[in-house]
Amino acid sequence: MSNSFWNRANKSIALGNMFLSKHPNRYLPGKWPTYYKKAKGCKITALDNKTYTDFSMMGIGTNVLGYANKNVDNAVKKVINTSTMSTLNCFEEVELAEQLKSIHKWADKVHFTRTGGEANAVAIRLARAASGKNNIAVCGYHGWHDWYLATNLNNKNNLNQHLLKGITTKGVSSSLKNTTFPFYYNDFHSLEKIVSKFNIGVIKMECVRNIQPKDNFLKKVRDFATKKNLVLIFDECTTGFRQTLGGIHESYGVIPDIAIFGKALSNGYPLNAVIGKTKIMKEAKNSFISSTFWSDRIGPTAAIASIKEMKRIKSWEIVKKKGQYIRNKLSKLAIKKELDIAITGIDSLINFSFGKNNRIYKGLITDKMLSKNFLATNSIYVSISHNKAIIDEYFYELEKVFNIIKKIEDGDSINRYVNFKLPSEGFERLN
Ligand SMILES: Cc1ncc(COP(=O)(O)O)c(C=O)c1O
Repeated sequence: MSNSFWNRANKSIALGNMFLSKHPNRYLPGKWPTYYKKAKGCKITALDNKTYTDFSMMGIGTNVLGYANKNVDNAVKKVINTSTMSTLNCFEEVELAEQLKSIHKWADKVHFTRTGGEANAVAIRLARAASGKNNIAVCGYHGWHDWYLATNLNNKNNLNQHLLKGITTKGVSSSLKNTTFPFYYNDFHSLEKIVSKFNIGVIKMECVRNIQPKDNFLKKVRDFATKKNLVLIFDECTTGFRQTLGGIHESYGVIPDIAIFGKALSNGYPLNAVIGKTKIMKEAKNSFISSTFWSDRIGPTAAIASIKEMKRIKSWEIVKKKGQYIRNKLSKLAIKKELDIAITGIDSLINFSFGKNNRIYKGLITDKMLSKNFLATNSIYVSISHNKAIIDEYFYELEKVFNIIKKIEDGDSINRYVNFKLPSEGFERLN
């Protein structure tokens, strides 16, 4: 059923869907359920009425409080009944801005968007205006906009080490060539090098993602930005409000000039926030930044309700603890089965990869786990809905897949087990 819908989608929707991370070929071409009817907690019912436990992407990081969280949804339903749009502004955006400032005492002003790519574009506009310079140093993934893809204009491999391999630039204006330059996480020298060469005014980076900062990396970047008068932006679309209330940067003791939040902030409802210091945010008055649906009421309402719920249950502590439990079990299982597995990511967003045959084993995990009604890949976004029974059941099933992988590693024929098409990687969609 999902396949026939996917075929229909490809006849009418330009790319099949709107979000690369929800493209079925990234998981298991032809077999991934692709479409859902309903979701609750960490359970998703697909079009064929099969219910799966989501032990994978949890809305691609949006639903730390689980799908259809009652308290968040009830707050949203209430504003739906009293109109989510009008000629006047919603007061909820003021309350949310105040809350974000009270969580991040260093921030003076806030700007809301609905998507992370937009929030990044806004932050870049303000930072360019404040620094008076065009050029940007970049590290990490920051969405689909031209300023970011420009990194690949002078070398198509520039972004390969920044989450998505193989991003193409057709349609991005060639006039943006040599405006965005990559540097590498934990390689302070790579940042120094581009700054000394390319008249850079802005550093845009993910505060943390797959690897932990080493050698005081974040502090060095902060001090360097201050010394050179560069605007430092932490893109926390993925890390914010996950295992910390607010930005994860505070737990590293490093404060940016701008931080960006999205995804978990509003538990599945569209909202992103750019928070920053006055000296940069005041540039909003000197540049045209405006959009109709940035004034919608659902986003801020959902974020206020999500923060309230997060505070009520201390979700960030729960999620971190669960993540540590999962990471520990995964690591023990890998050791028990003598498998060469690298486990990366923060506790609330765990990634793992195999030293050999990674793509095949990733597909094998998805294939076998689907037959046990788990959505599973090699990333685990942890939510409060992943209770111990669910986690233990996942590992009970995963161990069986690891047994197969061990057999293959010990010389059994890989073809005996691979009756699926390999998942796509990086930017490829395999359509
Ligand atoms: C760090 C980071 N920045 C920006 C984005 C882009 O956000 P969106 O997909 O909402 O445009 C993402 C999305 O995954 C992200 O993880």
